[in-house]
Amino acid sequence: MKSFFLCSLKDLKKQKTMTKWAGPFKDELTVIFKDGAITVFSSICPHFGGEFNIDLKNLKASCCWHGYEFDLSSGKCLSFSNCSPLRFYPFLINHGDIEVFFP
Ligand code: FES
Repeated sequence: MKSFFLCSLKDLKKQKTMTKWAGPFKDELTVIFKDGAITVFSSICPHFGGEFNIDLKNLKASCCWHGYEFDLSSGKCLSFSNCSPLRFYPFLINHGDIEVFFP
């Protein structure tokens, strides 16, 4: 199983959200920190590959291209029921570093 260093927990707690290209996964990942919980997901919109704006307060991602909204808790698309959900990634915290795994 491939793993990837995404960022340090210390930096994430400071910035609350970070986005980084994960070359080994051929995907761009976003990690968010909200109320003590960490979520890692692909920042490439499942509809057609657009970029997201992240609304941490309401835990939503909205796509810049066609405006679809996604729930950051469940990954579900809030705009259309037949749209694919966000792709979440498993991770662990290893000595203060967030390591993401390719499922
Ligand atoms: S590419 Fe994201 S809503 Fe269309």
